[in-house]
Amino acid sequence: MALSFAQSTLFSKPSLFLSRNGFPNLAVSLSLSCFSTSAAVSSDNNRGHKWRQPAASVEHGGVKIAKDDVVRDDPTNNVPDTIFSKLGLQLHKRDQHPLGILKNAIYNYFDTTYPNKFDKFDDLCPIVSVKQNFDDVLVPEDHVSRSYNDTYYVDSQTVLRCHTSAHQAELLRKGFTHFLVTGDVYRRDSIDSTHYPVFHQMEGFRVFNPDDWEASGMDGTSYAAKDLKKCLEGLARHLFGAVEMRWIDTYFPFTNPSFELEIYFQENWLEVLGCGVTEQEILKRSGKTNNVAWAFGLGLERLAMVLFDIPDIRLFWSTDERFTSQFSKGQLGAKFKPFSKFPPCYKDMSFWINDSFTENNLCEVVRGIAGDLVEEVRLIDNFTNKKGMTSHCYRIAYRSMERSLTDEEINDLQWNVREQVENKLNVVLR
Ligand code: DAH
Repeated sequence: MALSFAQSTLFSKPSLFLSRNGFPNLAVSLSLSCFSTSAAVSSDNNRGHKWRQPAASVEHGGVKIAKDDVVRDDPTNNVPDTIFSKLGLQLHKRDQHPLGILKNAIYNYFDTTYPNKFDKFDDLCPIVSVKQNFDDVLVPEDHVSRSYNDTYYVDSQTVLRCHTSAHQAELLRKGFTHFLVTGDVYRRDSIDSTHYPVFHQMEGFRVFNPDDWEASGMDGTSYAAKDLKKCLEGLARHLFGAVEMRWIDTYFPFTNPSFELEIYFQENWLEVLGCGVTEQEILKRSGKTNNVAWAFGLGLERLAMVLFDIPDIRLFWSTDERFTSQFSKGQLGAKFKPFSKFPPCYKDMSFWINDSFTENNLCEVVRGIAGDLVEEVRLIDNFTNKKGMTSHCYRIAYRSMERSLTDEEINDLQWNVREQVENKLNVVLR
């Protein structure tokens, strides 16, 4: 069983239906804009300063995104302020940040292995249509990832992309055949040291022509699968050195066959990425009827936590110099030295749930109040009484990575959490 952490691939599950630029190689011009062009406004660093108002707009790749365009008091919108404030940060574009260092190391591998082949995009707007995020990559209508519980919806037709695969079809249609897309992606999720509602992915895509495989005597799919595995094994060695690897067959809506690559690292099998041979339908819809392609998607945080020894996913967002000063451009794998271990404080809360209760909704409420001061929200007790009422008890761990929290501050947070959980989630506290 692979060690699965830091946002494992959501799409590797079949349809469940539960209730619930950089312009490196080519001078290209893509419509990157979200809305309109305007000046920069810095965004909130969300370190639990609950009284701080998030900026009214953020800048993404030179484009201004107004808060009102993303956060609306409307039932089709479930984007909180805390998520909006992350939109302009683009950690993957910072050369001194572990995510930027990792992105550059991957670029480096592709530039050396395939000189001048891959176009790189790291500025594509994260606000995409439902069509781009799901339909274009053949995510079934009833797939759990489409639910309001799992995805941030701006309105019924617009989402914050939940994977960088959302850009595959558009880039194919624009004529790109070899590309890497890096960006921030957004998912409603639980709270623990390896899950954060915003994280970063890189998507890779390569298209082959009949000439490529015909000379080999293989069929197109086998040829692409073989090339894909060779490429990604090389990438894993580039990042991790001489590691043991294994391929696992899996399912993704957009590829067939589909695989996951695992590496043996520090005595655990670690899932590194998802990939496969692109479904013909995706190519066909983009006007490519005679081609075969491969694609992969990897989570940057997951890899960076391992490569840099970063123990908590919240640290990526820290602006504390004791964190940021430990990394420098081009230094892949410099080991992070924890600068402190401030004590956690645990608070339990029990309530009777209702049919619409979900853990993701609870976590959103807690994050909305405590921001990055919440380390974990864990279900510690769950029972149903004779009347059929179900009670959940959650343990909330509060801990700052930067300072000691006072009792008063934690009690204040917990009172707010209790009040909002009761009001917003319609549960009955016990
Ligand atoms: N989009 C997938 C996810 O976020 C990751 C992925 C898997 C991307 C396979 C791909 C792919 O391009 O071929 O879970």
